[in-house]
Amino acid sequence: MLKRRKLFKLLGIGSLVGSAGFGYASCIERTWLAITRVNIPIKNLPADLDGFKIAHLTDFHLDPHYPRDLLQEAVTSTLDENPDMIALTGDFISHEKSALDELLTILQPLASHKACYASVGNHDMWQFKPKEIRQKFAASGFRLLINEGEILRTSSHSPLFVYGLDSFWSGKPDRNKALLKAPPNVPIIGLIHEPDPFEQTAKDGRTTLQLSGHTHGGQCRIPLIGYAPAKVSWGKKFIHGYYQIGESHLYVSSGLGTTALPIRFACRPEIALLTLRRSTPTA
Ligand SMILES: [Fe+2]
Repeated sequence: MLKRRKLFKLLGIGSLVGSAGFGYASCIERTWLAITRVNIPIKNLPADLDGFKIAHLTDFHLDPHYPRDLLQEAVTSTLDENPDMIALTGDFISHEKSALDELLTILQPLASHKACYASVGNHDMWQFKPKEIRQKFAASGFRLLINEGEILRTSSHSPLFVYGLDSFWSGKPDRNKALLKAPPNVPIIGLIHEPDPFEQTAKDGRTTLQLSGHTHGGQCRIPLIGYAPAKVSWGKKFIHGYYQIGESHLYVSSGLGTTALPIRFACRPEIALLTLRRSTPTA
């Protein structure tokens, strides 16, 4: 009898802890914005690009569950940081095409930044044809790059080249087309929603820094494992944070939204502030 009472007590405690954990993951952590600051050491970076700051936002997944206050906070926080460039790397929506109009309205203040670029994610291209989504972004003043790129020139920095690829999961990515206008010897930044093509990126050798999302950093990270049990296609190798292969660099952001269950655990919604740094050549 005593043993049974103990068992019921343990079950009661377990369900209380479970409910509290779910409440925390759905109500607190999912809306608790983090700003992550990372230096990216780049060999032969022009001296005047040392300190060039990129604000990277991704995976909004706007749906009825999305906390709109978080979006407003993300926009305000991004502009407060006064970045040199803003990169938005896809999955703007989840399943509702109509959500894109509302999202672009909320993100509108970012569009007027002198160097704000966007690329598409798998969810976007499951819902939209390239021409249709291009028109939506253009009408809102955003520069959307689908297998295309352009030189980013400012009065205070040496030029960079920025390109975006179509989704590897749901589109037709074409890196050669995107890099057609890339001049030699300038740092190249690639907006590529899914992170796993980073191995191809490094092998190709032309891209200095790849910016990706897609994995949501795991969304619910399990202590000691660091990732949810199920991994997503094209997001199995590079889950969250900074990676380097040779002279190619990758940052994978945990993004701002959620898919499947609207919860996050040990993986807060994130704005990544990436600062390019001139690395010291080693002998
Ligand atoms: Fe995705």
